[in-house]
Amino acid sequence: MQRRALLGRETERRALAALAEQAASGSGGAVVVLGAPGIGKSALVAEAAARAADRGARVITAVGVESEEDVPCAGLHQVVHQLRDGIDDLPGPQRAALRAAVGLVDGSVPDLYLVGLAALTLLSDAAVKAPLLVVVEDAHWMDRASLDVFGFVARRIESDPLALVAVTRSLDDRLGGAGLPVLHLDPLTDEVSGELLDAVAPGLGPQVRRRLLVEAAGNPLALTELPVALRSVGGAYALTPGPLPLTERLERTFTARVSRLPVDTRAVLLLAALNGDGTMDECLAAAARMLGTAVDMAALGPAVGAGLLEPWGMVFRHPLVRSAMHHAATAAERQAAHAALASSSRGSPTGRRGTAPPPPPAPTRTRRGTWTPPPAEPCDAAVSPRPRPRCGERRS
Ligand SMILES: Nc1ncnc2c1ncn2[C@@H]1O[C@H](COP(=O)(O)OP(=O)(O)O)[C@@H](O)[C@H]1O
Ligand SMILES: [Mg+2]
Repeated sequence: MQRRALLGRETERRALAALAEQAASGSGGAVVVLGAPGIGKSALVAEAAARAADRGARVITAVGVESEEDVPCAGLHQVVHQLRDGIDDLPGPQRAALRAAVGLVDGSVPDLYLVGLAALTLLSDAAVKAPLLVVVEDAHWMDRASLDVFGFVARRIESDPLALVAVTRSLDDRLGGAGLPVLHLDPLTDEVSGELLDAVAPGLGPQVRRRLLVEAAGNPLALTELPVALRSVGGAYALTPGPLPLTERLERTFTARVSRLPVDTRAVLLLAALNGDGTMDECLAAAARMLGTAVDMAALGPAVGAGLLEPWGMVFRHPLVRSAMHHAATAAERQAAHAALASSSRGSPTGRRGTAPPPPPAPTRTRRGTWTPPPAEPCDAAVSPRPRPRCGERRS
């Protein structure tokens, strides 16, 4: 598949190229590439890996998989499998520990130190034949034991033609505690965002273009996928005030882990997404009404941990979390949430939202990637300035 050239990211590309070059010259190292979903971590690392491979390096990749998060050493197994020819050359105790760790033989859970040492020896031995780049992708979904081992290895790479690049959405994992250098990916600049949007969707009207840039907030996945989703409903949809249509990939990206959150957290997130001009108190009161039990600020904690909300309040980490929460809910859930919001505010001293109609219906995804549009309601409200930070909205 033809890969689209990366735009911007010059500093980060130079940093990864320098790491690969150092490894090739025999003094490797490790780095953690950190950034939000869709921000371009994998694309950046894939480009660096392709360049290293062109220059003669061997690249091996282990990928964290959500369904294997609790399978000890599942990530390590991927690496060991690719280097299995070298296992027999390991010193006896290391060989035994590594085999037991990845389930090649029965045995008690081996000592982490010995497994780490074995992995380091295996990688260093392989790196003697050709410089080796190990990519630990989606480390946020990798099992803890593997991350412990990769962290152990990464801290000890010195005079080997070996580099380890771990890619993660959050530093709350074992690699975060390993004290490795971190390459943090920020949103693309406005200029690069505009360039990317114009490349994937040339000829957008100025208002639609502006709305997409605002909603994407420098996230390249959003910049490339929002125009795709919009294409099926017509560009004018971007001028309506409701949530934008999303592709399945965008929805999945921005609601990752939502299904695992506690029920009160999910309720508050949905209410925050629907209650665009409301307050946090309204959301909490409506959640209590929806669930029939008290709901307080503690319900926000898991959403912060999942990277959906900012730690300082009920503010979405990315504008598209709002749209994604909206689309990820069933029609019945949205209806219940609207009802709870309406009756909470009827009971509030201001009654501000008591008679407010629900927002216009969002397009409904009927099949993978296809949408049934609501009646078009052209409106400029979506691009007009907003007077104050609101429930679920990023303060910028
Ligand atoms: N700097 C960039 N220039 C152009 N496209 C980019 C850039 N960074 C990422 N992309 C594109 O955005 C999408 C999401 O990037 P990806 O690397 O998968 O994000 P992440 O791994 O952080 O979730 C991909 O289609 C990728 O090709
Ligand atoms: Mg990725």
